[in-house]
Amino acid sequence: MKRLAVLISGGGSNLQSIIDSSKDGILKNIAEVAVVISSNPDAFGLQRAKTANIKNFSLDCKKMQREEYDKQMLDILKECKADLICMAGYMKKLPDIIVSEYKKKILNIHPALLPKFGGKGMYGHFVHEAVVKAKEKKSGATVHFADENYDTGEIIIQESVNIEENDTADIVAAKVLKIEHKIYPEAIKKVIENHK
Ligand code: GRF
Repeated sequence: MKRLAVLISGGGSNLQSIIDSSKDGILKNIAEVAVVISSNPDAFGLQRAKTANIKNFSLDCKKMQREEYDKQMLDILKECKADLICMAGYMKKLPDIIVSEYKKKILNIHPALLPKFGGKGMYGHFVHEAVVKAKEKKSGATVHFADENYDTGEIIIQESVNIEENDTADIVAAKVLKIEHKIYPEAIKKVIENHK
């Protein structure tokens, strides 16, 4: 059973999808969420962790020095014996010490078809607004290995969704979020099975 550390900053709907999948979905008996770490003490995702009786920590990135934040995160990851790190709506760049310690063991989900609509500043609603502005016919979600940059790294799974002519950014966001919830557990399973 592989142990997952899920990093969040907000609502945690992707975290919930991973939790549900580990309990009675495609991740059952394959992976479990061992710990949830939030960069935001008010993240609703922490509530989801508590409800699921999952160990959880919030490292308030606004109040902590960067070095202290990074060290505490690394200590938690080691103590919880995390096999994979899953960034799920996590809004900070990972420190180099963690990227190098967990090479090819860090996954991130991005709400677009990378490499399009990725990079610094391209997150959450900004992505969907840019996709609508560009009159794209498709959007989707990408799970990729995370490295020290934003949204680069080898793609693991990508799935697209059609955009209708009058779709607003909110409608695109909702369509893409459904894809995210589907492909993140699939990506985790694929990485675990490839590492065997
Ligand atoms: C999602 O759009 C995800 O793609 C992005 O953060 C948003 C919120 O995710 N990374 P969640 O509901 O906190 O999982």
